[in-house]
Amino acid sequence: MGRHISLFILPLFLFFPTIIQHAKPAMSLPLSTNLRWIVDEKGQRVKLACVNWVSHLEPVVAEGLSKQPMGMIAKRIVSMGFNCVRFTWPLFLVTNDSLASLTVRQSFQSLGLLESIAGIQANNPSIIDVSLIKAYQAVVSSLGENNVMVILDNHISTPGWCCSSFDGNGFFGDQYFNPDLWITGLTRMATLFNGVTNVVGMSLRNELRGPNQNVSDWYRYMQKGAEAVHSANPDVLVILSGLSYDKDLSFIRNQPANLTFSGKLVFEVHWYGFSDGQAWVAGNSNQVCGRVANDMMRTSGFLVDQGYPLFASEFGVDLRGTNVNDNRYLDCFLGVAAELDLDWALWTLVGSYYLREGVLGFNEYYGILDWNWCDTRNSSLLERISALQSPFRGPGLSETKLHKVIFHPSTGLCVLRKSLLDPLRLGSCTDSEAWRYLPQKTLLVMGTYFCLQADESGTLAKLGIICSESNSKWEMIADSKMHLSSKLRNGTSVCLDVDLDNTIVTNSCKCLNEDNTCDPRSQWFKLVDSTRSRSGGKASLNFDSILDLPGKEFFWNLLGASI
Ligand SMILES: *[C@@H]1O[C@H](CO)[C@@H](O)[C@H](O)[C@H]1NC(C)=O
Ligand SMILES: *[C@@H]1O[C@H](CO)[C@@H](O)[C@H](O)[C@H]1NC(C)=O
Ligand SMILES: *[C@@H]1O[C@H](CO)[C@@H](O)[C@H](O)[C@H]1NC(C)=O
Ligand SMILES: *[C@@H]1O[C@H](CO)[C@@H](O)[C@H](O)[C@H]1NC(C)=O
Ligand SMILES: *[C@@H]1O[C@H](CO)[C@@H](O)[C@H](O)[C@H]1NC(C)=O
Repeated sequence: MGRHISLFILPLFLFFPTIIQHAKPAMSLPLSTNLRWIVDEKGQRVKLACVNWVSHLEPVVAEGLSKQPMGMIAKRIVSMGFNCVRFTWPLFLVTNDSLASLTVRQSFQSLGLLESIAGIQANNPSIIDVSLIKAYQAVVSSLGENNVMVILDNHISTPGWCCSSFDGNGFFGDQYFNPDLWITGLTRMATLFNGVTNVVGMSLRNELRGPNQNVSDWYRYMQKGAEAVHSANPDVLVILSGLSYDKDLSFIRNQPANLTFSGKLVFEVHWYGFSDGQAWVAGNSNQVCGRVANDMMRTSGFLVDQGYPLFASEFGVDLRGTNVNDNRYLDCFLGVAAELDLDWALWTLVGSYYLREGVLGFNEYYGILDWNWCDTRNSSLLERISALQSPFRGPGLSETKLHKVIFHPSTGLCVLRKSLLDPLRLGSCTDSEAWRYLPQKTLLVMGTYFCLQADESGTLAKLGIICSESNSKWEMIADSKMHLSSKLRNGTSVCLDVDLDNTIVTNSCKCLNEDNTCDPRSQWFKLVDSTRSRSGGKASLNFDSILDLPGKEFFWNLLGASI
């Protein structure tokens, strides 16, 4: 991977900022919905590729401002390929006058965080003596100046780390969760940011949960909250969380939310490795992925088929790469997120917290920035999510006809060939081969007669033109439906795989079930609907012109195709 990482990082960090800021026009806001898609004023899809930025812990100041100037952080967010921030706030910031009137300095002083005061004075002196809400607004403006969209997320009532079932912040009627006060707070926030163009949405309440949660109160209060936000600020998307830590929206299937307005409603879902305890470590990865992804489709994924945008507003992993549960989950999540082409927000931007759960300078191993908020903690995650940062499809985007790309979650790359005579390999999904997956299970390069084949040696994948044999038929197998499997003529099953230099090969199918120690993820692929592959139109021209050449047998022989 070393070579690929360096190839990737160079363009990402050197050229991305300039491309995004100067070449890519800002989307025309506000946003609205068109069936399951979020679209801009022109009706073109805008995919939310967000990162969560925390401002709801005890100091009620956006994390990291003692380490870096906010403008630098905003630029870093853009250079990492995100277009949006889900920016958290605690309800009491706008409903408790004594909290709201504190300055940043006073807030840190009251917690004894003197080092953070010095850090803010050095890096963000303009906010040290302003009120907490003014500091929050300053961060939103700074993001706006850098063309970053913002979703205001009411994360909790009481400032502090979230969430547990018994923290009094979980559901309407809990100790710190008075529904009327919540409506007041939402209305204040919506009003405050009315006319602030880059604020495109509001998450009404994070992770509803706890012993008091119930469906009837969900409708009662969420509908009220949605109406309040919409009347105070009709521009923003109204984003609703499900029950059980935002895992469960299954009740919407039978009873839609009853709202007086349309074109603004989005649902959000959270999905982590630990959402299923230690299931990923304890079980076989194919079986766990199959089960968990089916659960997700049943409890929230179905919403896209019902015509609602679904925002996976929290997902993430321990970026040290040592948490096996997280590692196995991530490939499954990325496969589903690519297949459904979901809007999403990574947890989290935060490299370290001023104070979390009593720990000063708490190091956030799920944070994409390092402890100093200076460098990225682990660029391999950025490489893997980069394909998901742009839309695969959606209104107003089609560059080529609808086709499939063969996406490989564990690298974030897609199957392509650099030139006609090169072997199939993984590369940027932007340059992906455009495939058609036919009912008879062949995978054709669009606009050509070439299909994906398992070489009879059982070790190579190649393109050929005799596409009727078993070695040209590819089924998605295992509970995960993520192995692309074919049969050699002698009946042996093989699975598509990737070797060390990212060449596409075939191998015997790995750990399809039972075994919980082996790792199938190099063989995990998703066929993703896309209209964006560059090669779609161009490749077909090349192939077609070769098919007409007098010396075509020569080319086909080179390709390993038998005529
Ligand atoms: C309001 O905020 C202040 C300052 O943080 C705090 O001491 C007080 O307990 C809060 N009041 C309520 C009702 O939450
Ligand atoms: C829902 O929860 C609230 C608060 O605990 C309770 O008052 C209400 O009776 C519950 N409703 C149902 C239908 O369970
Ligand atoms: C939907 O809400 C409106 C008023 O907001 C009400 O008149 C109507 O009865 C509600 N419909 C359902 C199915 O609850
Ligand atoms: C980054 O993540 C990868 C993949 O999980 C892991 O192998 C690697 O050790 C991590 N690197 C660092 C510096 O944590
Ligand atoms: C089928 O062919 C492959 C590749 O030539 C070989 O490895 C395998 O052992 C053969 N299987 C049978 C059942 O003959």
